[in-house]
Amino acid sequence: MNSQNRTDSIRQCGLIGNPVGHTLSPVIHNRLAQAFGHNLEYQPMQVEPEDLEKTVREYVAGCMAGCNVTVPYKSAVIAHLDCLDSLAKEIGAVNTIVPTAEGLKGYNTDMPGLLRAMEEDGVKIRGEQVLILGAGGVARAVALLMLKEGAKEVYLLNRTLEKAETIVQEMQAVMGCTNIHALQLEEYNQLPLGHNYLAIQATSVGLYPCVERAVIEDVEFYKRIHTGYDLIYRPAETKFMKFVKAQGGKAYNGLKMLLYQAVIAYELWHRVEIPKELAQQTYQVLKDAVEQRKE
Ligand code: ATR
Repeated sequence: MNSQNRTDSIRQCGLIGNPVGHTLSPVIHNRLAQAFGHNLEYQPMQVEPEDLEKTVREYVAGCMAGCNVTVPYKSAVIAHLDCLDSLAKEIGAVNTIVPTAEGLKGYNTDMPGLLRAMEEDGVKIRGEQVLILGAGGVARAVALLMLKEGAKEVYLLNRTLEKAETIVQEMQAVMGCTNIHALQLEEYNQLPLGHNYLAIQATSVGLYPCVERAVIEDVEFYKRIHTGYDLIYRPAETKFMKFVKAQGGKAYNGLKMLLYQAVIAYELWHRVEIPKELAQQTYQVLKDAVEQRKE
C-alpha cells in the first residue's frame, strides 16, 4: 500500500501491533465515524518487528490520517517518530500517532483515557490511598497518572519486587515525590492499617482464558479495598472484581478505558470533540461487541 491509496474522501486509520486479531478498536472508530459522517477505513495491521520502521515511516507517514499502536510496539515505535507529546514522553509509551506539520507525533491516550473513564465512573484519585497491582509498562503509566492527579500515597505491589522498586525510583527522580512505595505482592499485609484503598489491577492475571484467577486471592486483602479498577475487560467481571464486590467494594473493568483512549485518539486525528452522549452510545456498541465475542 502507498500514498496513492489516499483520496480526499477516505480517511485511512489503523492499528499497528502483533497480534491484532482480537482488537475492538475498529468497532469504536467505525461507530464514531458513522456519527460524524466520516468516510473512515480503520485497518488493523499485524506487523513483524523488522517491518515496524518501514510501516511507520512509509505507510503511516505516507497515507494515514492517524494510527494506533499496541503491544508489543508502544515503546519501540518512539524511535521512528518525529516528535512526542509531553505525556507520552514522560510515560515512555505511545499508543496514538498523529500526522502533524512537524511530522509524525506520538501521543499516549491510554492514561487520559483511564482518567476520563474513572471520572465518568465517579472514582476519585485526589487524596486517595492507591494500590497498584503490577509493575509492568501499564502499571508504570498508571503510577504516573495517580501521582499527577494528586493521590495521597501510591503503593506498587508486584511479584518481582525489583521492578516495582525501579518504578518508584524513576517516579521519585522524575516527579520529586516521596509518596510512592514498592512492596512484594505477598506483603500486602504490611500496608498501613486504618486506610481504605483504591486498587488498580494492572497485571495480566485473570485475563481470559484464566478467568478463575486473581493476583491476590485472600479475602482479608479485599476488605481494605473500597474501589477496585481492573484494567482487564475480558471477562467483563474478573475474579479480582468479584473479590472486591464480595467485600462490599465497587468494581469496574477496563472497557471504558479502552473506549476513551479511542475517543481521544479520534478527537486528535479528526479534530472534533466527541459529545458525552455519543461516547456513551459507542460504549453500548462496544459492550455488545464484547458480549458477541463470547468464547
Ligand atoms: P504490561 O505492559 O501490560 O504492563 P508486562 O510488562 O508484561 O505487561 O507486565 C505484566 C505484569 O503482570 C507484571 O507486573 C507481572 O509481574 P512480574 O513483574 O513479576 O512479572 C504481572 N504478572 C503476570 N503474571 C503474573 C502472575 N502469575 N502472578 C503475579 N503477577 C503476574
